[in-house]
Amino acid sequence: MNTGQSIGVFDSGYGGLTVFKSIARQLPQYNYIYLGDNARSPYGDHSFETIYQYTLECVEWLFEQGCPLVILACNTASAKALRSIQQKVLPLKYPNHRVLGVIRPTAEVLGQFTNKKTVGVMGTRGTVNSLSYPMEINKFFPELKVVQQACPMWVPLIENNEHLNPGADYFVQKYLDELLEKDADIDCILLACTHYPLLIPKLQAILPSGIELLGQADIVANSLELYLENHPEMVVRLGLQGKRQFFTSGDRQAFDQHANIFFGEEVQSEQMHLKC
Ligand code: DGL
Repeated sequence: MNTGQSIGVFDSGYGGLTVFKSIARQLPQYNYIYLGDNARSPYGDHSFETIYQYTLECVEWLFEQGCPLVILACNTASAKALRSIQQKVLPLKYPNHRVLGVIRPTAEVLGQFTNKKTVGVMGTRGTVNSLSYPMEINKFFPELKVVQQACPMWVPLIENNEHLNPGADYFVQKYLDELLEKDADIDCILLACTHYPLLIPKLQAILPSGIELLGQADIVANSLELYLENHPEMVVRLGLQGKRQFFTSGDRQAFDQHANIFFGEEVQSEQMHLKC
């Protein structure tokens, strides 16, 4: 029986669209609902409690729209809210629903990308301070050295479409320098925020040779494909019409103007009304 439900994809704002783009390319047959909580973005500097409350509200909203499976396409939400949702909320309130994040699938493969066994992880303050990456990477590659760098100005620059303008150069260089000064052996830099792929042109232009930049979008799409292969009980609940819907808690016009630089296609969003 196919009940025609959708896969939910969530981010604090636009960043998750970089992940959704890869997922939709790799698994075009499924129906999807993307939700960006643009009204309350960025999440990166908020407290644990606030990020948890915001993320839970959005996940429950996606459940109400008929998504039995939600991907947190946001490192900050994955770092701060995923475990509590998986361990406390789902078993009690939604035993047939699943929520997956982006940190574990990335940590599972990261060791393949470094010869010197030293990786740089650039993320929001929330992601970096949570220590989720060093802890998860350690489970799969205990020999890896993980060097972290918080980049609090990058998401605001990207959300405001200022990231490719000359004014952004200072902050791009600053955080890259700060990271590389911490360890000369870094040969792979993980962009551990789903907004950051938009900075790749600027980063590539100043990156010393021998260092690879790694985004997460394809890693997460591969991991979702594998998850669905291993969970036929979930697949039978999903619709196969290839439908895509986009919702924002913020301004719809602004979302539609801005979203294509992340998603690579024009989109028409609908309004998601927050409870408070
Ligand atoms: N795309 C989110 C992430 O991956 C951005 C976080 C934010 O809103 O600050 O962490």
